[in-house]
Amino acid sequence: MSNETRKLTTASGRPYFENENTQSAGPRGPLLLQDYILHEKMAHFNRERIPERVVHAKGSGAFGTFTITHDITKYTKAKLFSKVGNQCQVLLRFSTVGGEKGSADTERDPRGFAVKFYTEDGNWDLVGNNTPIFFVKDPKKFSDFIHTQKRDPRTNCKSATMIWDFWSLNPESLHQVLFLMSDRGTPFGYRHLNGYGSHTFSLINAENERVYVKFHFKTQQGIKNFTNEEAGDMRGKDPDHAQRDLVEAIDRGDFPRWALKIQVMTEQQAREFRFNPFDLTKIWPHADYPLVDVGVLELNEVPNNYFAQVEQAAFAPAHIVDGIGYSPDKMLQGRLLSYPDAHRYRLGANYEQIPVNRCPFAVNNYQRDGAMRVDGNGGSSPNYWPNSFDNIVADSSYKEPGLTLESTLADWYDRNAPGEDDHYTQPGWFYTKALNDTDRVNLVHNIVASMKGIEGPKKDEIINRQLCHFFRANIQLGLAIAQGLGTDITAFMPGMPIQATKA
Ligand code: NDP
Ligand code: HEM
Repeated sequence: MSNETRKLTTASGRPYFENENTQSAGPRGPLLLQDYILHEKMAHFNRERIPERVVHAKGSGAFGTFTITHDITKYTKAKLFSKVGNQCQVLLRFSTVGGEKGSADTERDPRGFAVKFYTEDGNWDLVGNNTPIFFVKDPKKFSDFIHTQKRDPRTNCKSATMIWDFWSLNPESLHQVLFLMSDRGTPFGYRHLNGYGSHTFSLINAENERVYVKFHFKTQQGIKNFTNEEAGDMRGKDPDHAQRDLVEAIDRGDFPRWALKIQVMTEQQAREFRFNPFDLTKIWPHADYPLVDVGVLELNEVPNNYFAQVEQAAFAPAHIVDGIGYSPDKMLQGRLLSYPDAHRYRLGANYEQIPVNRCPFAVNNYQRDGAMRVDGNGGSSPNYWPNSFDNIVADSSYKEPGLTLESTLADWYDRNAPGEDDHYTQPGWFYTKALNDTDRVNLVHNIVASMKGIEGPKKDEIINRQLCHFFRANIQLGLAIAQGLGTDITAFMPGMPIQATKA
């Protein structure tokens, strides 16, 4: 900050001398309407709040760099990936999902992992989570699901009953429920978690050939989680624990890093995969689709103004660049529409011109006017296309290869189609392959603690329905949870001995 003295002014630039006392009729008289500075201060203050994000309202952001370390040009023509050593600036915003802007960082929740890559092809946003999967696989269910994570309409409190009612009625949620209920649902801050693009995306190479990909950011700091109880304690001690941890690490030069890796599936493999490769409740097994190294993301700069650079940041899965494409993942398709719509509501029609969202390279189009247009609005250049005056062209070399559709039938989800109704195999893998013994004990403990909050006339119905899902994923898991809840499991498995597992 400069030492040069500067004059205090109104927003329109008029210097003024009194910033503490309002002009009045005599020292003790009523205030004079003409003290415009009082109006300006009060009126601006009343407009300081913008709508918080409807989900992921509590978050932390940092700037950094992304560097390409490995050659993946056989998969993509994106300029960012054209050469090992290429670099671009990034903004990464971490978040919790269900809580309000002032909620605690250590709530049990997925963590958002949203990256904006400022590339010469335009801004690319990868708006992921710290889990490779999600609770639902159709965007029509998203708002219902989120309502259950927020507050009960009458009590205005969080409700385990709503949450488990929804999950038990939507068995496709089980895989993500297990992730969330494991200790990875309460990560130690933001530096010690992985990020996943989660959806299936596509990459397109210079020959205009498409492969499907999953993006994985692996933390270089090591995974570190709170237990359920530690997270609860931290909620009271420091609700902003993750924000503070991130800022302090960067300020002391301990820059957090993530290795970006991809899994690759050909279009042929996608047709033959035993699960629907575009189903967001499923992972692609590493043994079949190994991780391929791509680059390293480092965070090294704390934004100097949180509101300007983090609260006003707008990430959208629709923002891709040449060489990267969408996929038929239904959730991704829904999100393409939802985010820019949310940004227009939250930040205004010209949100892409806010400096943190602005593409640092050329943007040419015929969008004009609207509230808060601040970039010169195209000046005197034509505001329609085609025209005979400017030299802006629609370049056909950016055309993506066509997508072969499996069916021409307009239809809805068919739960009986092959690969669509298996909600249990992968959750079973999660329990047996991903978790170690301690993780499994903690998972059961966390689930039992949460399900004990289910109440009301439907309590038994909800618990029994959810127990059926756990049993179908893994019998030991079902037994341990039933035992922890004190449920008589003979109704589920007559004659089956109960195996003791610490809950
Ligand atoms: P592998 O057996 O090859 O590897 C297990 C994966 O689980 C690794 O990615 C590991 O990576 C991750 N993992 C380890 N401990 C945990 C934990 N406590 N909580 C969550 N994830 C953990 O995996 P498969 O590909 O055969 O999949 C088996 C199961 O592993 C899946 O059903 C899924 O639930 C889980 N998983 C799979 C991922 C994938 O993309 N294939 C990604 C993450 C989890 P790391 O420790 O670096 O996170
Ligand atoms: C934020 C909708 C699924 C990750 C948001 C926002 C909306 C939204 C409206 C607020 C945007 C804003 O105001 O800036 C949806 C819908 C979904 C969906 C409709 C499903 C159909 C997902 C999934 C993931 C995800 C599957 C992760 C894989 C995020 C993240 C943010 C976010 C990380 C915060 C971005 C930021 O930091 O600004 N979502 N979401 N969402 N969502 Fe989703």
